[in-house]
Amino acid sequence: MCSKAAPENRAAASGSTHLTGVHDAAGVVDVSALRTTFGKFPSGVTAVCAIDGAGQPTGMAVSAFVNVSLEPPLVGVFVQTSSTTWPKLRTRPRIGLSVLSADQHTACRQLASRTGNRFADLSWDTGVEGAIFLHGASAWFDCEVESESVTGDHTLALLRIIGHRVAGPESPLVFYESRFHDLSASARDN
Ligand SMILES: Cc1cc2nc3c(=O)[nH]c(=O)nc-3n(C[C@H](O)[C@H](O)[C@H](O)COP(=O)(O)O)c2cc1C
Repeated sequence: MCSKAAPENRAAASGSTHLTGVHDAAGVVDVSALRTTFGKFPSGVTAVCAIDGAGQPTGMAVSAFVNVSLEPPLVGVFVQTSSTTWPKLRTRPRIGLSVLSADQHTACRQLASRTGNRFADLSWDTGVEGAIFLHGASAWFDCEVESESVTGDHTLALLRIIGHRVAGPESPLVFYESRFHDLSASARDN
């Protein structure tokens, strides 16, 4: 249905909602400003992990996760094309996704760090084909890579769900405005 905006709405659209162009004066995308606007969209965070070809645990924190399809069962993750971890994961027979819970913010930072052992002091189970499931997560998916497509500076990896499980009543970790939040602290009924 096509509806005509009321005059006061049009006024608002040309006033307080006046948008900033995505390019700066030099004609390049203002990445910092765009990241700030992206940050207004709250998301959960997943740990995308598996045993790599050398037998070592490997993985990364990913907030760009989306439930894609029920039949066939698919989820998607967007990973930076510059990622050094995704090339080690994408060839594995199975990849584990752990939906991080609110008290796993330290684990999340660790799984995103560029130095040190990302798995230090973490505990996990390994699936029969090498997917890693972190203890303390609020849900898990055991997945195979279905397809990949490069989109801008990210790769969209569609993952076929082979198995899944919800844990206990853990509150999820929420990433919003570049900070972690605990949904249970602001839970509402409506
Ligand atoms: C809260 C949080 C969310 C993240 N989300 C993503 C994401 O959605 N996609 C991505 O490629 N990297 C994401 N990262 C960054 C990766 O975890 C990791 O730091 C990055 O891939 C660089 O490491 P690598 O070269 O080992 O891949 C996120 C990091 C944090 C802390």
